[in-house]
Amino acid sequence: MTQPPSGELKWWQRGIIYQIYPRSFQDASGDGVGDLRGITRRLPYVASLGVEAVWLSPIFTSPMRDFGYDVADYVDIDPLFGTLEDFDALVSEARRLGLKVMLDYVPNHTSSDHAWFRDALTGRGSAKRDWYVWRDPAPGGGLPNNWKSHFGGPAWTLDEASGQYYLHQFLPSQPDLNWANPEVQTALLDVLRFWMRRGVDGFRVDVLNLLAEDERFLDEPLNPEWRPGMIEYNQTLHVYTNDQPATLDYVRMMRGVLDEFGDRMMVGEIYLPVERLLRYSGTPQQPLAHLPFNFHLILLPWDAGQVRAFVDEYDAACREAHSWPNWVLGNHDQHRFKTRVGAPQYRVAQTLLLTLRGTPTVYYGDEIGMENVPVPFDQMVDPAGLQQPDVPSASRDPERTPMQWDASPNAGFAPADATPWLPLAQDFARVNVQAQEADPDSDLHYFRALTRLRREHPALVGGDYRPHESGHPNVFAFGRTQGEEQVTVLLNFGAETRELGETAGGETLLSSLGDRPAADAPLRPHEARVVRR
Ligand code: GLC
Repeated sequence: MTQPPSGELKWWQRGIIYQIYPRSFQDASGDGVGDLRGITRRLPYVASLGVEAVWLSPIFTSPMRDFGYDVADYVDIDPLFGTLEDFDALVSEARRLGLKVMLDYVPNHTSSDHAWFRDALTGRGSAKRDWYVWRDPAPGGGLPNNWKSHFGGPAWTLDEASGQYYLHQFLPSQPDLNWANPEVQTALLDVLRFWMRRGVDGFRVDVLNLLAEDERFLDEPLNPEWRPGMIEYNQTLHVYTNDQPATLDYVRMMRGVLDEFGDRMMVGEIYLPVERLLRYSGTPQQPLAHLPFNFHLILLPWDAGQVRAFVDEYDAACREAHSWPNWVLGNHDQHRFKTRVGAPQYRVAQTLLLTLRGTPTVYYGDEIGMENVPVPFDQMVDPAGLQQPDVPSASRDPERTPMQWDASPNAGFAPADATPWLPLAQDFARVNVQAQEADPDSDLHYFRALTRLRREHPALVGGDYRPHESGHPNVFAFGRTQGEEQVTVLLNFGAETRELGETAGGETLLSSLGDRPAADAPLRPHEARVVRR
């Protein structure tokens, strides 16, 4: 199939999505937590990266027990982050800079502080009771079934006043909405309209695959592969709570609302194998989510053979499903990719992310090579970590630490006398935006070089993907072709120098090692090279 020239691609196909975790980007108010005015101030920097859109993790009214993924009012801004006027100012600054704005839409659950849930708690007669998922205790008493919360413990909490349990796939303070109820659908779809009228271009949809539950409420089967040390949620297989048929109806409704406004998009947070994942993008006749997030580069071991096998499979499956591919290396729930793949492989991974066919999503700070920041248990704030003290990797604090802007106290993230909500990286005096702006060999300049290549070479954006036989198990090589233009990407996942043989030839456009070796020169340890034929 021929790809359309990149000029015909939509913004969400052509461009890079940059994820901002608002608590950690820039604190303008001086309370140690990032805010909207801070983000607005830093938008020129974001634009200078060559990205297309910013996605803000939740900024809505919230008691912050899950740091905003527990929404108490979908149509207002939490005072910690600012006001609706601050948001409007952010959108107009983004417009001025040519950036799209995406918000995080959290339709699966509200906060227990939401007026709807408070009303539901008044009793079985409440008009909002059926907006949530209630069950009687099991015969003889106790939990209705064995469903588990993602953060450990049961997915049910007893409401003593009524004697019924309510469902929460995350914290007890995050009750699941009942999407089978048409009133819930109407209310939640109106949330999308509210923000699109305010100028929002798209949404990242939280846990899109968890919206529906099997209404028989049967126990989920035990997972034979579970071992101590793994999170408790994985003790069972989620055949009745994950990826249920009705979910696609709800996705279709959301898509319908987006289409009322034109040129908007949604990307769903969905951790599923490729075949099931792509069902969320629907068919050309009946499109659903524009992009179902592809998290497989995070989930796979960093191994050239396994990465290549996955890219081949996914690219082919996307073509067949007429779904546009997308790629992710990091987000606010996953450990920093530089820590995961190891510092020597950092630029190899960054090059892969920005040269594969499909929309890349970049997590704030990854462009300067921020790493996990160890946060000791007594400073831990993430409920996923606090609730699972026996699984040290469960805490997401290490990947949520403040953006490192400069070498001043608090790294320019917050005024010197503020206490940032999470500790700063120890290396911030060296690893920060200001220092890297001044160093032409920095990770930041490498990132910009990659985004510049994407602008200058449309094959890198819209071109076909074709793997090359590199002859070395540790070298992943592929071509991107559009019309006359052919760009080849050579990635050395290993620490040995490799002769290039057949993949060689052409002109080197970029090397991760900062020089311009001949296109057919041996690939050096951990080198990523982009070559034009
Ligand atoms: C998603 C979010 C995560 C949050 C959870 C519950 O997985 O990415 O941060 O804790 O949903 O809303």
